[in-house]
This record gives sequence, structure tokens and C-alpha cells, in this order.
Amino acid sequence: MTIQSNFSLKNYNTFGIEAKAKQFTAVHSLADLKTVLTENTTEKKFILGGGSNMLLTKDIDALVIHIDLKGKKIIEENDDFVWVESQAGENWHEFVLWTIDQNFGGLENMSLIPGNVGTTPVQNIGAYGAEIKDHFISCQAISIANQEMKTFTNAECHFGYRESIFKNEVKDQYIITSVVFKLTKRNHNINTSYGDILGELEKHNIQNPSLKDVSNAVIAIRQSKLPDPKELGNSGSFFKNPIISKTEFEKIHPQFPDMKFFEVSATEVKVPAGWLIEQAGFKGKRFGDAGVHKNQALVLVNYGNATGQEILAVSKNIQDTVYNTFGIHIEAEVNVI
Ligand code: EPU
Repeated sequence: MTIQSNFSLKNYNTFGIEAKAKQFTAVHSLADLKTVLTENTTEKKFILGGGSNMLLTKDIDALVIHIDLKGKKIIEENDDFVWVESQAGENWHEFVLWTIDQNFGGLENMSLIPGNVGTTPVQNIGAYGAEIKDHFISCQAISIANQEMKTFTNAECHFGYRESIFKNEVKDQYIITSVVFKLTKRNHNINTSYGDILGELEKHNIQNPSLKDVSNAVIAIRQSKLPDPKELGNSGSFFKNPIISKTEFEKIHPQFPDMKFFEVSATEVKVPAGWLIEQAGFKGKRFGDAGVHKNQALVLVNYGNATGQEILAVSKNIQDTVYNTFGIHIEAEVNVI
């Protein structure tokens, strides 16, 4: 295991931002990870997974540890369910495709989400009516401070909308090394209720979709709306959809009767940030090499050589304008470093 100095992270973040790590190492086994942690106890550390949910606004004055643990397997099964375990460094989408190829159901609506399996619990990733918390059994994590392994069960992860214990109570204390999901082997819960999916299936005259059909529909929808980070640097949704009280919403709604909203509880509604940003006039806008995607206003993009600071400035401009227009604060979903 080598530790490199002054290492460029441009190829390790999906925004494609140029930033340097003071030191960098990639670990391919749990043993290597333990070694690097025990041998560098006093160094500041920065844990890097797929780099798909962060905006680098400066060089990283720390030892960057890239988690590249690979492997996926079935660990238990019965007639109805299968328990699959994936190491943290597996690419999420490849893992999802692997489950679908074996006719294991549950993750198909989350096809093509960028990033690695190990970071999926951190923000409880979700798309098209599904979230990983509905299929997540547990994850293994290593303590950065004392290198002890700990299992976090679903309940212990305190999952919420793009939230978990790993962003809150135990932030920066653990590195997730593997995740276990429970998936269906038969009687799959095919979920096509999220508007666009049904439309996409109808286009192909599919009435009784298989897991693969749903996955293909999601892939087609995502490809039509969301830029491929390999072609255009981005980090998926830059902002979370704000959740506001119904009381607040009822004050705002009469002024903006077209405002989209989804009820999330008896007292709260979620407003799509993409709608707010589009109405605020930012969709497709470009500021130098930083901009807002033309098909999905929730996604900020790097047209080439934008710096993290430039993208951050666009995000602040959006937040201020949305607040001044609607009185609603939108919060970044990506980690701003
Ligand atoms: N909308 C607009 N303009 C836009 C974008 C959206 O008016 O530019 C409106 C749409 O018309 C729709 C509503 O906002 O009525 C919701 O849009 P969409 O279904 O595209 O979903 P979203 O809420 O914008 C969320 C996730 C995405 C996920 C999609 C699909 C968050 C922060 N984002 O976006 O996740 O793919 O739903 O389920 O929850 C990601 O996290 O990186 C990500 C892409």
C-alpha cells in the first residue's frame, strides 16, 4: 500500500474538480484499511468513496483514504428472500444490475445512481419511490479511532430523507466497509407508481414489468434528465427537496398556485427544489464553467474547468434567489468540503 503526496483528486470526484490531497492512498482490503488507520493515528484523515456526493472547494490537508474494497455475495437465502452482502467499494449501479440479473428484487428503482455501495447508507439514497432503508439490513463499519468493527442495524442507522446516523451522531467516526440488503426472490414488490416510470413502460407496451423492465425504464428516465458524470461533471441533486410545515405552505401557495408539492406527513409537505430553482430562472443557466443543468434544475454542473468555489457561488446565488422569491430555504444535499 503506497501513500502518495500532493495527489490530484480530479478523477476521484464526479464533479471533476481539480483539488489536491496532501496525501492519498487507496485500500483494497480490510487488513490494509486497518493498517493505514493504525499507522497514521495522528494524521488528519478524509474518507473517500465514489466521490459522487461532494463538492471540493479547496485542497484537502489530510490523508485521503479511498475505500476500494470489492466483493459481493449471497450470505443467506430461503424460498422467498435472499440476503446479499456487498463490500463498500463496489459500484452501486453494477451491484444493482448484478442483483437484477439474478432476479433479486428491491433495488431496481435505484438503478444508475452514481457512487459506491458503502456510501449509500450515509445519505439513505433513493429514487423513483424507493429508498435503500427499505431493503437495508445492516452494515459493518470500522471505528477510525480504535479500528474496532461495529455492526449498525437498520434501526440503529436512524434513516430519514437523505439522512442517517453517519451524517449526524457518528459523523466522521466510522468507515462503512460492507452492507447487507434483503431482497425478494419471488412476489416482487414492483413499484411503478412514480409517474414517469409508468409512462416509460407504456411507451414500450409493457403491462407486467419484470425487475429488468423497471430498471431499464429508470435508466431511460435518468439518462433523459440527468447528465452522465463521465460526460459532464456533476453530483446528482445538489440540493435536498425542502420539507416545510403545512402552515407555512398554506401562506405561500396562494401566491404561487402552480407550486408542486407532496404531502409527507399530517403537518408537512415537500416542495421540489427543482421546481423552485426553475421558477427562479436558473434552469440551464451558465456562469463561466459552472451552471445549472438544462433538463433538471436540481443538478449543478461543471462544464469543464469550474472550480469548487465557482460552483459553490452558483449554489449560494440559487439559495438566496429562491429564498427571496419564495421564502423557502433550500439546503445542499452534497457535502461541501
Ligand atoms: N421539476 C421542475 N423543474 C426541474 C426539475 C423538477 O419543475 O428542473 C419538478 C418536476 O416537474 C416534478 C418535481 O419537480 O414535478 C419532481 O421532479 P423529479 O421527479 O425529477 O424529482 P426530484 O424531486 O427533482 C428526486 C431526487 C433525485 C431522484 C428523483 C427521482 C432529491 C433531492 N432528488 O428529484 O435524486 O432521482 O427524485 O426519484 O430527492 C440525487 O439524489 O442525486 C437524485 C438525482
